[in-house]
Amino acid sequence: MLSKNKEININEIKVIQAPLAGISDVVFRGMIRKYGSKCLMTTEMISSEMLCNNPNPKIIQFEEFEYPLAFQLVGHKIDKMTAAAKIVAPFASMIDINCGCPVKKVVVSGDGAAMMKTPQLAADILKSIKDTTNLPVSAKFRLGWSNNEENYIEFAKILEQAGADFVTLHARTRSAMYEGSADWKKIGLLKKELKIPVFANGDIKTLEDAKNCLKITKCDGISIGRGIMGDFSLPYRIEKYLKEKIEIKEPNLEEKIEMLKEHLSLEIKNMGETNGIKFMRKFYNYYISSIKNASKYRCCLVRLEKEKEILKVLDEILCIHNSNH
Ligand SMILES: Cc1cc2nc3c(=O)[nH]c(=O)nc-3n(C[C@H](O)[C@H](O)[C@H](O)COP(=O)(O)O)c2cc1C
Repeated sequence: MLSKNKEININEIKVIQAPLAGISDVVFRGMIRKYGSKCLMTTEMISSEMLCNNPNPKIIQFEEFEYPLAFQLVGHKIDKMTAAAKIVAPFASMIDINCGCPVKKVVVSGDGAAMMKTPQLAADILKSIKDTTNLPVSAKFRLGWSNNEENYIEFAKILEQAGADFVTLHARTRSAMYEGSADWKKIGLLKKELKIPVFANGDIKTLEDAKNCLKITKCDGISIGRGIMGDFSLPYRIEKYLKEKIEIKEPNLEEKIEMLKEHLSLEIKNMGETNGIKFMRKFYNYYISSIKNASKYRCCLVRLEKEKEILKVLDEILCIHNSNH
């Protein structure tokens, strides 16, 4: 069934859930909505080749509450990217093109961040998708391949010319992978050069970060990835601030542990105990990063295989924390 909430008004979007392969599932997006955010969600990257060869309905079907939803496609062939866009179009609010993934197995074939080396090809893909689907199309990219090959401004201008509805810049190069800090000043430089909206991405982990980033970049909105992984209230708190200048406090440890317990329980319901618990190991670091001895607790949590044991350790963490404060 097609979503009734599929329509999107790009000018109203201030916060985007950045694509997070292997992380952002239906439970993840449900938690974001539970905490009140109306942000634009993004699927994890979907290989256009894979989709064309094996159009598995599971990849394209989403729940009502996950909308508005951008489908992110990855690939470097115009025909495959256009065909993939056509497959997802009835289910998508818009299409996003991945020009930023730095992973070796993606870039070797010319996909992801390697698209920054072929700007005209990226623009042709974007135009073809837009002409075929009539949906809004954006691209998410990095500063360039390496420090000596930064071409984000030229790259974005070619995409703008080709009809991009907005762009998202993760302010690191491909060579930097996830090291160092995102260079928000460069996002500000890009903003000055484009007429279409620019979304800032990289290292926005708190409301304060969002405020600073928007001040530095003067961007139209922000895209958040890892910042949501230990705090599902972050997108809502940013939206609330931007709309009404109301600052809602970051959840304290007790609230974060409650959030983590709910997340764990929903993933177990979704995937079963064994897989749900394995999946949740990716998150502990983010939830408890602010506390003393976080790495010791994380090491303990990732070894546990039963929900009951995990809940017991989480209660112990809270108890120790409270007795120290
Ligand atoms: C586990 C993980 C998976 C990611 N998957 C994707 C992806 O599928 N597509 C994409 O464009 N970026 C992907 N990214 C990059 C993020 O969308 C984002 O650009 C990056 O993490 C920086 O933003 P952040 O500091 O808010 O996390 C991924 C990042 C992480 C950590």
